[in-house]
Amino acid sequence: MNILEEIAELKAKRNALILAHNYTKPEIQDIADFVGDSLELSRKAVECTAPVIVFCGVRFMAETAKILSPESIVLHPNPLSGCPMADMADPDAVAAYRKEHPEALIVAYVNTTAATKTEVDLCCTSGNAEKLISTIPAEQEILFLPDANLGSNIASKLNRKIDLWPGCCPTHNKIMPEHIQAAKEKHPGALVLVHPECRPAVVKLADQALSTGGMLKFVQESDCREFIIGTECGILHRMKKENPEKEFYPLEPEVLCPNMKRITLEDVLFALRDLEPRIELDEAERKKAKAPIDRMLEILP
Ligand code: 13P
Ligand code: SF4
Repeated sequence: MNILEEIAELKAKRNALILAHNYTKPEIQDIADFVGDSLELSRKAVECTAPVIVFCGVRFMAETAKILSPESIVLHPNPLSGCPMADMADPDAVAAYRKEHPEALIVAYVNTTAATKTEVDLCCTSGNAEKLISTIPAEQEILFLPDANLGSNIASKLNRKIDLWPGCCPTHNKIMPEHIQAAKEKHPGALVLVHPECRPAVVKLADQALSTGGMLKFVQESDCREFIIGTECGILHRMKKENPEKEFYPLEPEVLCPNMKRITLEDVLFALRDLEPRIELDEAERKKAKAPIDRMLEILP
């Protein structure tokens, strides 16, 4: 039996659901039941009735699945797959901010740890952040964490003041305006799509700033045939597979999140075999961390 057959056999035996983020390795995306962006994966976790979820993505995403689907065993096949940006907002520092700014509404990007989610009022993803913040009254003071780029891009789009936490995605922050300019010169007929975690100066040069799910939908619906892709290279797998007649140009140098690439087929196989490593959360913490996610899903179901 090869590894794919072994995984299929164990997956059936465990009655497991495999969820994968759009940035994971192509071979992981190919064995998943569902591949999506953070918001789509959270929605899948809410609906999930499977006894076992194998979550192929960084840790905060697997934690979100556990928060939303506590009855399921949530396996995170490689515990080293973390999101450095999520670790930039420490829960104690957020609690200290709240003490100093009791009037502020704390909006957290879903790229935060479960512990940090217990300290915030509302969660959002890159797919719904702008819409969600536009529902908050203009006079309400807001702190956005941990991504200062995303927060600043939303603030400009909505033309409102937002306090920004000093965090960023090390992968998207490496994309510079000159990388976009160079790609535009090489492919003048292409539309430029970037992730809103990119620097504001990069977003200004793009035709669209979209979540990974938003980009996949956009390229499918667009009449344009060529796209410059300003986000993690893993997304190209689905883009090419779903749109074989279109051309996709990654930026140079390659945009890569090493953490998303840590999960291998072997990790998935061992996780299904051993039912480890699991995401375990203290029940009181899980309930507290769920509140801002529930609020997000209530405002924008
Ligand atoms: P998406 O929600 O757009 O998939 O983004 C998640 C992420 O980690 C981007 O770096
Ligand atoms: Fe975190 Fe950036 Fe990797 Fe997304 S691409 S998981 S934000 S480090």
